[in-house]
Amino acid sequence: MTSSSQFLRYGIIGVGMMGCEHIRNLKAIDGCAVVAFADTHETSRSNAKRLVGKATSYVDYREMLATEQLDVVVIATPNHMHRSVFEDVIKLDMHVLVEKPLGINVAECQIMIAAKDQHHKPGRVVWVGLEYRYMAPTSRLIDEVNSGTCGEVKMIAIREHRFPFLQKVDNWNRLSKNTGGTLVEKCCHFFDVMTLIAKSRPVSVYASGAQDVNHLDEIYGGLRSDILDNAYVVVDFANGVRGMLDLAMFAEGSKNEQEICVVGSTAKIEAMMPESVVRIGKRESRRDGVVEISVSQASEVVAGFHGGASYLEHRAMQNAIRKGLEPVVTLEDGLLSVAVGQAAHLSIAEKRIVSIDEISR
Ligand SMILES: NC(=O)c1ccc[n+]([C@@H]2O[C@H](COP(=O)([O-])OP(=O)(O)OC[C@H]3O[C@@H](n4cnc5c(N)ncnc54)[C@H](O)[C@@H]3O)[C@@H](O)[C@H]2O)c1
Repeated sequence: MTSSSQFLRYGIIGVGMMGCEHIRNLKAIDGCAVVAFADTHETSRSNAKRLVGKATSYVDYREMLATEQLDVVVIATPNHMHRSVFEDVIKLDMHVLVEKPLGINVAECQIMIAAKDQHHKPGRVVWVGLEYRYMAPTSRLIDEVNSGTCGEVKMIAIREHRFPFLQKVDNWNRLSKNTGGTLVEKCCHFFDVMTLIAKSRPVSVYASGAQDVNHLDEIYGGLRSDILDNAYVVVDFANGVRGMLDLAMFAEGSKNEQEICVVGSTAKIEAMMPESVVRIGKRESRRDGVVEISVSQASEVVAGFHGGASYLEHRAMQNAIRKGLEPVVTLEDGLLSVAVGQAAHLSIAEKRIVSIDEISR
């Protein structure tokens, strides 16, 4: 459906914070342009217009889809709208990047996968915006794991210690019914990275967490904000690898926002962001032998909010489109990352181990 040299015309649905990050990154890539965008919110539309003045602005995304000749559509609306927008887009002959989380629960993700299969178009690339794997230290850590630096992977610990959720248009992210819950909305990124490193399917989850500090007094439409702000999540993979997420969203006083630590049979590898450092420590070399490597993105990579990861994500997706390759980040990856988050929320609510099969039926 797309030739190797074809100029790619993009339409963006939802041009809030993330939609504008996509626009900024696409502007920096040759051979493509954002020709249209749609958003129901006037301020978001005018922010996008400032970034990409020549693009046509729409209020109704369906009108944009019916009017414009688009090759690629990016869906960057709030989480609870991904499914319905995706169902409209997937019927058309366009490549699609849908932001994470794929849906707010596994059932939605399953509906989206069925819609993709039903409207199958040869050569069409359908991609999920799980771009953390493209952050420079993370991708270096993944390369080291894949080249055998730590032997057989046994343990993967990811710590995210950061600031509270940012304010979003109409405060959609303050209620779990819109986001899927913090462990779906935010942490699907980390469950995706964990699954990628483990090279296996997550099978069960145990979690402890709560909303203890943030947004406790906020009311939206008569509903109190109910978004969890700290948790420990333990994930068992089918091949015996163990994963753990440590999330704190009231930890601004942290040197790093994300730290990934993989321990294998022969060595330990750590990645730190934004410090942009990877540390490798072989068991035989002990503490004095730990090697510290400074890792940053190549200079042509645009540093958006995600350290250049969105730029690399678009480059990788365009490569797949132009060469007729399979997507690197599939809807199935999107589903698994949501499944672990959903299982973790259920585990917290019911104080028990939850199997991924149980929530995937
Ligand atoms: N991949 C990442 O790292 C990353 C980071 C941040 C956000 N996101 C995801 O991107 C999506 C958007 O998040 P955000 O931070 O930009 O939120 P946001 O509130 O800043 O922007 C969402 C935009 O969607 C618009 N919108 C709502 N309904 C619409 C409709 N029917 N048609 C068109 N536009 C509509 C809103 O008006 C708003 O401008 C979410 O799914 C979020 O989880 C991904």
